[in-house]
Amino acid sequence: MADRGKREPTLGVREIDGVEAAGAKVRMLGTSLPVYAYSTDGLLIDTGPTRLEQVFMPFFRDRRIDRLAVTHVHEDHCGQAAALQAEKGVTACVPRGAEERALRRARLPLYRRIFWGPRPAFAPEAFPDRIETERHTFEVVRAPGHTRDHVCLFESSRRWLFSGDVYTRSQPSLIFGEEDVPELVRTLNRLLELDVGTLFCAHAGVVEDGWRALATKRDYLLRIGEQVRHYRKLGYSLKRIDRVLFPKKPAMTRISLGEWSSLNLVRGAASLSEVGDQRSEIGIQYRK
Ligand SMILES: [Fe+2]
Repeated sequence: MADRGKREPTLGVREIDGVEAAGAKVRMLGTSLPVYAYSTDGLLIDTGPTRLEQVFMPFFRDRRIDRLAVTHVHEDHCGQAAALQAEKGVTACVPRGAEERALRRARLPLYRRIFWGPRPAFAPEAFPDRIETERHTFEVVRAPGHTRDHVCLFESSRRWLFSGDVYTRSQPSLIFGEEDVPELVRTLNRLLELDVGTLFCAHAGVVEDGWRALATKRDYLLRIGEQVRHYRKLGYSLKRIDRVLFPKKPAMTRISLGEWSSLNLVRGAASLSEVGDQRSEIGIQYRK
């Protein structure tokens, strides 16, 4: 992604096996985060935030977009849905249960309004079970955890998984307050039953060995769960465990007033015993 020199964000576009990955970085107070939208065969998966509208919109204008698929209604995934509907009249599919929220302008904490920009109201349709384009069939897979109604899109003949915010990174040190860690582990386990090849992530970009990436994240979360349970048995509070496991606190935790924090991860991991210790063979590398 080209974003050197000037602080103005620029769009990097890369084509992988018929999918165009368009990405740019949002920066604020020393923090930066890449964000990607994916376009293939008339389908756009996620839009990026309104703060990057001027960066993304020329790309959107130049593409055939018949339909927009929104993995979840966070502002960095559908911020530009309203503008795209005004510009191209596209249908916007959202997860079942998220239609009401899409119909209203999102009420966001100040830091998110500044970081991503507002998320205007747009006209949603609930996802069907699968989306057919001229060349592809995308199964809509329920993938709760990051949000309750998050979905992924899986194209089995190409082994593509469009994962929204299920992955983001293999070993996150902080997570969003809304995330449900046991639910996320169950989702990762279900996704690992699919024959995933390339992962198209909204923040990590294109990950070639998607299955291994998902397994690494699932095993990491289980390992944090084990560590949390170990310290709980020694009588440590969750805050103390957080300080032991994650002594460095990134700027985002302060900026977000704790909405993004390692404490969220520790709290969520504390209930992981209910999920069961389902490891892949890759998990063995974490055993000491
Ligand atoms: Fe999200």
